[in-house]
Amino acid sequence: MDDVQARIEQLRKEINYHLYRYHTLDDPVISDYEYDRLFAELKRLEAEHPDLITPDSPTRRVGAEPLSDFEKVTHPVPMTSLANAFDDDDMRDWLKRIEKLLPEGTTIAEVEFVVEPKIDGLAVALTYENGVFVQGATRGNGIVGENVTANLRTVRNIPLRIPVDPHAEISAPARIEVRGEVYISIKDFEELNRRQAESGGKLYANPRNTAAGSLRQLDSSITARRPLAFFGYQIGYVAGLEIRTQWEALQTMRALGFPVNPDVHRARTLDEALTFIHQWMERRAELPYEADGAVVKVNDFDLQQHLGIVGNAPRWAIAWKFPAQEVTTKLLAIKTKVGRTGQITPYAELEPVNIGGVTVRNTSLHNFEDIARKDLREGDTVVVKRAGDVIPQVVKPILDLRPPDSRPYQPPTHCPVCGAPLFFPADEVAVFCVNTACPAQLVRRVEYFVSRTAMDIEGFGIKNAELFVREGFIHDIADVYYLDREKLLALEGFKEKKVDNLFEGIEASKRQPMHRVLTALGIRFVGAEVAKLLADRFGALDAIAAADAETLEAIDGVGPRIAASVTDWFSRPEHRRILEKLRAAGLQFSAEKTAESAGEKPLAGLTFVITGTLPVPRSEAKKRIEGAGGKVTGSVTGKTNYLLVGENPGGSKFTKAEKLGTPRIGWDELEKLIGD
Ligand code: IVH
Repeated sequence: MDDVQARIEQLRKEINYHLYRYHTLDDPVISDYEYDRLFAELKRLEAEHPDLITPDSPTRRVGAEPLSDFEKVTHPVPMTSLANAFDDDDMRDWLKRIEKLLPEGTTIAEVEFVVEPKIDGLAVALTYENGVFVQGATRGNGIVGENVTANLRTVRNIPLRIPVDPHAEISAPARIEVRGEVYISIKDFEELNRRQAESGGKLYANPRNTAAGSLRQLDSSITARRPLAFFGYQIGYVAGLEIRTQWEALQTMRALGFPVNPDVHRARTLDEALTFIHQWMERRAELPYEADGAVVKVNDFDLQQHLGIVGNAPRWAIAWKFPAQEVTTKLLAIKTKVGRTGQITPYAELEPVNIGGVTVRNTSLHNFEDIARKDLREGDTVVVKRAGDVIPQVVKPILDLRPPDSRPYQPPTHCPVCGAPLFFPADEVAVFCVNTACPAQLVRRVEYFVSRTAMDIEGFGIKNAELFVREGFIHDIADVYYLDREKLLALEGFKEKKVDNLFEGIEASKRQPMHRVLTALGIRFVGAEVAKLLADRFGALDAIAAADAETLEAIDGVGPRIAASVTDWFSRPEHRRILEKLRAAGLQFSAEKTAESAGEKPLAGLTFVITGTLPVPRSEAKKRIEGAGGKVTGSVTGKTNYLLVGENPGGSKFTKAEKLGTPRIGWDELEKLIGD
């Protein structure tokens, strides 16, 4: 046991260190593959020794049991807010107010400042006792916040233990409260929305609200699936370390392993601070996160103390707010495009306009209901808002500027590409072209099939998808693997080399793991994330195709909508034909053959319970499962991954599995999972 405990602790230390290298320093020292191995080992050891699981284990970053409500937390030191400045004059006024209050013998020339980006997320306070993360709270009203510890544990770059780096020259203080902002980077936000769009889900409005909503989930496993990140900007209090300035506080947080914004700056004078803010605002569009301003803080803690607080904002700090990124422009036309599921989405063609350094020409209008609600009309002058690099939004029309002859927008009744009548599902805002032969849909499906999220075929892309569909080379997604070399060579601009490269890319994609094949099928609501869940759970495409809705829904993260969509897709003969063509082309149909899990045994980490009479003796079945890295236990619990069912299955195991929603498989399916 001691050996196991030591190994577990060692693994946790290493994993935490690699998480820090990856998420905080952006400088990993091992490959994802090696990391996954360490993580899998820790997960296995903890599964075998549940009594050794501790809340600071990195495996807990996947979320804990849902809560019925958040506990309230009274902040030992209130979390104040900030006064705002809207231009440089406001800043100079602030300086004058400070000057009047300086202690005797101190002149304003001696006052130093720290400038920090003001990230648009939400403030949290993280408490560490003897280096262990014990509590995380939201700001709430500044006096009382909510205990969101379980959720904050899932944020990848929040250290669960400090110092994170075993070679750090600093040791953990007895008690420290680090404050900072939880946010979602623009890249992660866009990726999140891309995945939402892909799986037909609702788009998130902006990173800030999404971060706030994610952090206030009672079920932390939902938080774990959102790309939250943290930047520390303040030490609420600390026992066991002497820190005299804000600049030192930032360095200390960094040394302990907290992510600290690299764009912080120390300024000798207010003018220097302002110059920095202006330069930095110029680069606003390039920032990887959404910032709504900059915070200027008096550096010296004694001086901060002396200046004190007025109302609920300190006198020693001020927020310089960026002007809102809203502009007006002309809505030239409302157009539509056909997606791969046949969904028709409207978009706005705008008179090109510059917002925060980026020229915007067109932008999504989400859905027809939204257009009706805002009463957007072609020819309107509209307010367009853009925050950071996030997709610009048409906020509203300016009614005073509306042309007198304008008419309300009429949504289409027929597909703009194939002319088929559109379908308006009763319980959705989405509108569909349900003609499976619609060429626009096929192009999109092929485009998605070859895209980076799916089969990732280099050099294919939308242009070729359009061309090959138009030329009649492609009638379904599987035809990507049945292209005729000679026919391609006959096309204009298709030289030997180009065709060779394309075929090389197509050939290479055959080695893509099964979850990508599943993603690439383009089943509604099954994006990359759900595909991974299904692949993990079933191990084989055929097992997914054979699963009924109930079995699918038993998977955490799969609801009735997804389950219905999956069973519907696989039930269609035309889809079955596509699958057989893909299989014949040599694509990966089972998960264990993927490059990602190569070297790992097919049943690694899976627990089985056997019931009923199998075609082989039990002992033999057990040997097969264990040989493939799985485990066999005597009774069904929440940890059981599969109930292996033979003839005349025993009542109690069967009912228990039924109750827990444990997937059932037969001997044949097991053999497929093992795959030899
Ligand atoms: S300092 C007195 N620093 O802005 C200290 N706040 O309106 C109060 N914020 O609730 C906070 N970046 O959510 C500080 N570098 C930064 C910040 C920052 C973002 C947010 C924070 C706070 C709000 C104040």
